[in-house]
Amino acid sequence: MASNNSLLTTSTTALFSFLVLYLAVSFSNIAAKHRHSTPTNHHSHHHDTNASSPRLQQAYIALQAWKRVIYSDPFNTTSDWTGPAVCTYTGIYCAPFPNNTDIQTVAGIDLNHADIAGFLPDELGLLSDLSLLHLNSNRFCGIIPQTLSNLSLLFELDLSNNRFVGPFPSVVLSLPTLKFLDLRFNEFEGAIPPELFNVKLDAIFINNNRWTSIIPSSFGSTTASVVVFANNNINGCIPPSISNFANTMEELLLANTNVSGCLPPEVGFLYKLRVLDVSSNKLVGEIPYSIAGLAHLEQLNLGHNMMSGVVPSGICQLPKLANFTFSYNFFFEEEGICRNLTSAGVVSDDRRNCLPEKPFQRSKKECDAVLEHPVDCYEHPCGGDKPVENHTKKDMP
Ligand SMILES: *[C@@H]1O[C@H](CO)[C@@H](O)[C@H](O)[C@H]1NC(C)=O
Ligand SMILES: *[C@@H]1O[C@H](CO)[C@@H](O)[C@H](O)[C@H]1NC(C)=O
Ligand SMILES: *[C@@H]1O[C@H](CO)[C@@H](O)[C@H](O)[C@H]1NC(C)=O
Ligand SMILES: *[C@@H]1O[C@H](CO)[C@@H](O)[C@H](O)[C@H]1NC(C)=O
Ligand SMILES: *[C@@H]1O[C@H](CO)[C@@H](O)[C@H](O)[C@H]1NC(C)=O
Ligand SMILES: *[C@@H]1O[C@H](CO)[C@@H](O)[C@H](O)[C@H]1NC(C)=O
Ligand SMILES: *[C@@H]1O[C@H](CO)[C@@H](O)[C@H](O)[C@H]1NC(C)=O
Repeated sequence: MASNNSLLTTSTTALFSFLVLYLAVSFSNIAAKHRHSTPTNHHSHHHDTNASSPRLQQAYIALQAWKRVIYSDPFNTTSDWTGPAVCTYTGIYCAPFPNNTDIQTVAGIDLNHADIAGFLPDELGLLSDLSLLHLNSNRFCGIIPQTLSNLSLLFELDLSNNRFVGPFPSVVLSLPTLKFLDLRFNEFEGAIPPELFNVKLDAIFINNNRWTSIIPSSFGSTTASVVVFANNNINGCIPPSISNFANTMEELLLANTNVSGCLPPEVGFLYKLRVLDVSSNKLVGEIPYSIAGLAHLEQLNLGHNMMSGVVPSGICQLPKLANFTFSYNFFFEEEGICRNLTSAGVVSDDRRNCLPEKPFQRSKKECDAVLEHPVDCYEHPCGGDKPVENHTKKDMP
């Protein structure tokens, strides 16, 4: 888990750096420009000669509507959200309109860590020039309004760590310029639509929700290099369609998702993978040998599953491998260098398996119970005779 967190942090930091850069570039002359659009001139433009452009007036309507459905704001973040000068509001960032630099428009909203409780009103659709919407770590609840489809310039949408509910907010699929989508740590539920992986996103964070099915059995090729599924109750097998991520995916994080069945050989097609973490699941069967082809793999975590068979030396010899954890499984043999990964400079953990010559293994009784019923991953890729779904029904109160 520690490594997951640091990966997430790295990604978040990258996004944040991007935000800072973006704001710095886009909004560099805002301070100068902002006060220059005087209300008195009639000569220059066709647009409204009010101090605020029509776009800022729309933003004003949107932000006031939003403020009305904010019920708790412990840091008083929105207490200066009064009057028409929306560009001075805390968390609101204006920039010149791309076509016409005389027009100011609301380009970014950053309310990260404001601990605000409330809803997102339909009026947010009026913020049609928004590029960044960052609401990380608040207490926003309810659903994502369909009117966000009007945000045709939206580039980053971070709704993480809130209390949003409902099915996957399909409105995000209609945003033509969206690159970063972060929905993690909410209470979204149901299935992930296959279309999510067809839109041209760079990063998708959907972990820690209540999705019940995450990797559609068929979808087109995705552009995302990071997809974090971890900590959802997926309850099924990893479909062979996982190979559709091949051209981009560098980190596949499926830890603690209740996935079952065999690890499909198609995981080995993800030739750009640096991190593969399928730990703390119900995976059975052998390690697919195709993983030995993942030349960039640095971190491999198979720990806390029910996998068995031989740990193949081809994997232990991967050139970039730095940490290979396969503890808490039922492996009964380590091939070649796998027996002493330390000597190869690889951090490893092989405790609690069925390795006869190693310390800290499972009891013979425990091992026999599982090893007497080997799973044939070719015949039963989804876990043998036992219909796994029946064992993993979601606990509803
Ligand atoms: C537009 O100008 C009028 C008159 O000066 C003013 O009352 C109104 O608040 C302005 N609207 C905005 C959004 O600035
Ligand atoms: C927010 O404003 C209220 C009322 O003005 C005040 O009592 C409270 O201390 C303020 N909280 C913070 C964190 O500034
Ligand atoms: C901005 O410019 C593009 C073409 O350069 C045009 O299609 C679009 O309508 C313009 N948008 C506005 C709001 O003026
Ligand atoms: C979408 O944005 C335009 C301005 O670009 C605005 O006139 C319109 O009302 C918005 N639609 C919704 C549903 O908010
Ligand atoms: C996995 O399934 C078990 C049993 O149904 C459940 O208690 C657990 O919360 C699930 N794990 C996750 C991450 O949802
Ligand atoms: C190796 O990976 C495991 C599982 O992800 C992790 O718990 C451990 O801290 C890692 N060790 C090092 C030295 O990175
Ligand atoms: C693994 O190799 C190292 C040196 O390469 C050696 O010190 C260590 O005793 C070996 N461990 C086992 C379990 O053979």
